[in-house]
Amino acid sequence: MASIIDLLSRPILEIVEDHLGHAVADPKNLRVSPARNPKFGDYQFNGAMSLAKQLGRPPRELAGELAARLEGLPWLEEIEVAGPGFVNLRLSGAWLSDRIGEVFQDERLGVERPGAGRSVVVDFSSPNVAKPMHIGHIRSTILGFALDRMHRFLGFEVIADNHVGDWGTQFGILLVGYRRFGNPDAFDEDPLEELERVYVEGYQRAQQDPALMEEARRELVRLQQGDPENRRLWEKFVKASLREFDKIYKRLGIAFDVTLGESFYNDRLQALVEELEKKGLASRSDGALVVFLEEEGLPPFIIRKSDGGFNYATTDIAAMLYRIERWDPAKILYVTDEGQQLHFRQLFAVARRIGIQVELEHIWFGIMRLPEGKFSTRDGNVIRLETFLDEAERRAYEVVHRLNPGLDDALKREIARKVGLGALRYADMSQNRQSAIEFRWEKALSLEGNSAPYLQYTYARIQSVFRKYREEFGGGDLQGTRVCVEGDLERKLARTILEFPDYLYRAAAAYRPNHLTDYLFDLASSYNRFYQNVPFLKAPEGTRESRLVLCDLVGRIIRTGLDLLGIEVPEQM
Ligand code: ARG
Repeated sequence: MASIIDLLSRPILEIVEDHLGHAVADPKNLRVSPARNPKFGDYQFNGAMSLAKQLGRPPRELAGELAARLEGLPWLEEIEVAGPGFVNLRLSGAWLSDRIGEVFQDERLGVERPGAGRSVVVDFSSPNVAKPMHIGHIRSTILGFALDRMHRFLGFEVIADNHVGDWGTQFGILLVGYRRFGNPDAFDEDPLEELERVYVEGYQRAQQDPALMEEARRELVRLQQGDPENRRLWEKFVKASLREFDKIYKRLGIAFDVTLGESFYNDRLQALVEELEKKGLASRSDGALVVFLEEEGLPPFIIRKSDGGFNYATTDIAAMLYRIERWDPAKILYVTDEGQQLHFRQLFAVARRIGIQVELEHIWFGIMRLPEGKFSTRDGNVIRLETFLDEAERRAYEVVHRLNPGLDDALKREIARKVGLGALRYADMSQNRQSAIEFRWEKALSLEGNSAPYLQYTYARIQSVFRKYREEFGGGDLQGTRVCVEGDLERKLARTILEFPDYLYRAAAAYRPNHLTDYLFDLASSYNRFYQNVPFLKAPEGTRESRLVLCDLVGRIIRTGLDLLGIEVPEQM
């Protein structure tokens, strides 16, 4: 089913292309937008003015022509040209009613599968091993997972790949440090904590002791050459780290299709680098091997260091080639913080030189700041992700308890888990991902603003309307209900319901879940306005059921939309 905005925009696009005699490069500018005021109908097309300029025509005349061509479309009831050349559109009430009836029958709520037949690799989370996951890692994990879910829902075959950093230079220090002053009991107790301690201490000592630094380098080389003792210890560190990460993933309901760490590509690097050199893509510079990217205006990409070692860059080229060979994806998405923009620009430039056609996207995000002081331990370390998640659930418990003190405690806890973790995820994803965000509990857990709890609460209240409906009227089955959309509030709600596919496509295409959260917030607000002003259960039979269909659709869209963001809904709150 086409989204309503598509239905209205398509004929406009066609007319414009007729006029131009060629296809429009960016049809986004030719889309209708929801009218701000019901006085102006449901949607407006505001593009006639700039278009008229482009075509050298009087704007009102052009608008009039557009209006004339839209005349007769079954979904429009009124078309009006206003002001300097606005085209105001009012949907046909009968059409709107029928359409709502159709979407009500559709399990997918009108959403098509535009991705069918194509696959996408999503490289996200990808933490470095031997370090606890800090709250800084949360954005890639949360955002990447939402992109994964949305793409799956849109029919793409998704390969979620956790590109864990298990092969970095940190292992030299870790190997030496652990042998010298590691504490095996502490490791068994909390491996990541102990490895971090060993690393920090080892690093500090090595700074002052060149011999130690040299030893760390030697051990790293021995590891890379396959020394069995080093290999064994390395494996122990990696395994323990992955086990700890898994606890977090499990808690957040996140799963990967593959976890291929950097080490996985190690055996391919030598041949890869030789190949690039042979093809003339890489050349020597000060003992290192680099790909010069002057044409692209980028600094050289070092693929073999002067000490002969390979690096992050080399591994990423190998990983890219491997993914293309194994999954033949239409695109590869890399979700990391903003600090890696240069790296990915270089990587993608190298890809073009190799002749890779696959769409490559770096989905970067700004840093998340926390209210000062509150999230640091006494020694200034950032709080571990785990602690942060605990805090979210604890605070959400208070919210749930305030709302509904009589609820069974185990149930309160279960609701608090959904609300707390949901609030945290939503607070992240509802922002422009490229801005630095400041996290605030009050805002994240607010029951009124653009937050997960607000949507969850709206959802829970919808479920309670249905519980009452079943109690009072014994019914519950709305099949066969004739929907009748009347009045401005109901109209606004109905068309917002029909916009769901549009905003979901947009969120996925721009890799910006905030388009979806903005939409869900708008939907819930429209619903709550409608609910507060119009009788539901007290309405006469027929009208009652018709309104309950809208109510049900709002609930299903909220549940589906939040689910795509990795957020669960409680049945009561
Ligand atoms: N491990 C890296 C980090 O923590 C992120 C890896 C992102 N993915 C990639 N293919 N480079 O910074």
